[in-house]
Amino acid sequence: MSKLIDGKAFADRLCATLAEEVVTLKKDNQLSPCIAVVLVGEDPASATYVGAKVKRCEQLGIDSRSHHLDVTTSEEELLSLIEQLNNDPEVHGILVQLPVPKQINGDAVINAINPDKDVDGFHISNAGALAVGQNNMVPCTPLGSLMLLQDELGDLSGMNAVVVGRSNIVGKPMAALLLQQSCTVTIAHSRTKDLPAVCREADILVAAVGIPHFIQADWVKPGATVIDVGINRIKDEATGKNRLVGDVDYSAAAEVAGAITPVPGGVGPMTIACLMYNTVAAAKNQAGIA
Ligand code: GUN
Repeated sequence: MSKLIDGKAFADRLCATLAEEVVTLKKDNQLSPCIAVVLVGEDPASATYVGAKVKRCEQLGIDSRSHHLDVTTSEEELLSLIEQLNNDPEVHGILVQLPVPKQINGDAVINAINPDKDVDGFHISNAGALAVGQNNMVPCTPLGSLMLLQDELGDLSGMNAVVVGRSNIVGKPMAALLLQQSCTVTIAHSRTKDLPAVCREADILVAAVGIPHFIQADWVKPGATVIDVGINRIKDEATGKNRLVGDVDYSAAAEVAGAITPVPGGVGPMTIACLMYNTVAAAKNQAGIA
């Protein structure tokens, strides 16, 4: 049985440190970090994620301003809100929960955010900055995953890392971060030939495909460190109730891996903690505090 990587505990420690920093920023610098969270429509999963983000802000003393817009909101209306938030000196971070309704071009909205306020790290200039090693705002899920890996393994230099999934939100930035740590990085995806064999080469295996229990135990190299980014809602056959599972067949893979993140309680809490981290960093950056 492998070691469980406790993302919830790590996230709680990181948030406790950030809460102390927020107290100091308010007292010594009269700086009150603030994030604007924009939700368009009524998608229940998005509403849950946004609720969890706002709750963490409250725990840390970070101000949050919620903008819940109707599902019929036009792109023009959303862009006008983004412009208003870009120009508001009291707002340091702007997050638009994705996906947005189909009448809105999500890329256009993200790229309208001031890159220094883009606490999700999704703006095209932040993606480019990461690709060339001039990191500004780094996407939260890959950043949190990297923190867990470094805590578990220390120096990652020379390790074989396989990232399964090539999304702009997770796969590509995760690969860029691992490359910055001098890993030998493979990005695998739906067209990869003999995916099980590719995965078996990994010292570090990151699963970000969005398919429940996709990664099998016999795809995992014995002793490998497995980071499961998936958050999939499935109906439990036995109880008939919904439950969250990852992209990895956890119980079987845990017999083979050296260390593995659970779902829930692994990467998920780190994503929100890193959003808090980016918000504090954005506030300091905008106030000229090192
Ligand atoms: N939708 C799914 N994941 C995310 C995320 O990390 N940030 C935002 N804004 N939307 C998402």
